[in-house]
Amino acid sequence: MKTILSLATAFTFVASVLCFFPSRCSGEVSDFDSIKLYTLTNDSEMTVKVTNYGAIITSIVVPDRNDELADVVLGYDRLEDYINAVDKPYFGAIVGRYGNRIAKGEFSIDGETYSLAVNNGENHLHGGVIGFDKVVWDVDLFDDHQIVLSYHAKDMEEGYPGNLAVSVTYTLTDDNRIVIDYHATTDKRTPVNLTQHSYFNLKGEGNGTILDHRLTINADRFTPVDAGLIPTGELRTVASTPFDFTTEKPIGRDIHIENEQLSFGGGFDHNWVLNRSESDGNLILAAHVSEPESGRTLTVFTTEPGIQFYCGNFLDGRLRGKSGQAYLHRGGFCLETQHFPDSPNQPNFPSTLLAPGETYQTQTIFTFSTDNAGR
Ligand code: GLA
Repeated sequence: MKTILSLATAFTFVASVLCFFPSRCSGEVSDFDSIKLYTLTNDSEMTVKVTNYGAIITSIVVPDRNDELADVVLGYDRLEDYINAVDKPYFGAIVGRYGNRIAKGEFSIDGETYSLAVNNGENHLHGGVIGFDKVVWDVDLFDDHQIVLSYHAKDMEEGYPGNLAVSVTYTLTDDNRIVIDYHATTDKRTPVNLTQHSYFNLKGEGNGTILDHRLTINADRFTPVDAGLIPTGELRTVASTPFDFTTEKPIGRDIHIENEQLSFGGGFDHNWVLNRSESDGNLILAAHVSEPESGRTLTVFTTEPGIQFYCGNFLDGRLRGKSGQAYLHRGGFCLETQHFPDSPNQPNFPSTLLAPGETYQTQTIFTFSTDNAGR
């Protein structure tokens, strides 16, 4: 096994090494030498670290209302932990070719049926066994504010049709925004649904649960699911249900209410239908989160029609993160901007089909700030 690397001399800024124990890394990755860690910085004390393994955001350090810095995303400090993680929680990764579930791992295009890996009960999840979160991406550009990563998925890779050229750009602005631009083109009709799977804890990663974070979602409806978390096809009003986040409330306030949808998800693990007019692909407000103690806030904007709010129901304290703390049940939340789960099998949902000659182009922005009014 080759020794893992030195400094990324090819780049303006020094990239450091993630995997110090390559022989203990899983066999899925053969190109260890090209895996590096890149640091984006800005003029407002914020830093974001990204690795080209899975295009993973490994760290986001932001100040609180007293200018105390903390890393607000869950993750590891060694590559081997990302590769070998128990239950693979997709910490910080770009998920694709299709984020979230496709029922029974099957869909048809032009009368042809495609079969994908069934890796979540009887369904397909997050692009398959080796999705975009578990491959090595190329780095096309890197400076202190921006990194452009690309990946070429082959025709029939993980069962999906078409050679797909994907690029993801992370830009850190001086006003503490992480702008994420996604592009893809294909040579055959294929479903595409890319998302970012960071787990946030605005108190700092490993610092308890996120149940006291206050959440607003700009959505009057959500897509209810069956027991396997596949949408039924209905767009259901959130009014008078625990899924109503149209006005700010603590994530934990209604999570224990007896409710069939909550029991299917083991908590919140659902897609909300963002309030936008049908044909409008503009950037809109999707969600806002504030953490009362630190005053940190996160606001999410997107061009996507939906957002999966997942509150870390599958975390159970077994994984230990960067600071050595156990990641507790509901120790982080994800706000995965996306098209709706199982769209390839749901004719009434906005289409996820990309055709040759078209460009898949979406944008999501994570804006960090502080709320000084709290104290
Ligand atoms: C998404 C899914 C969840 C779970 C997580 C990863 O949020 O909806 O059910 O698979 O990813 O653990």
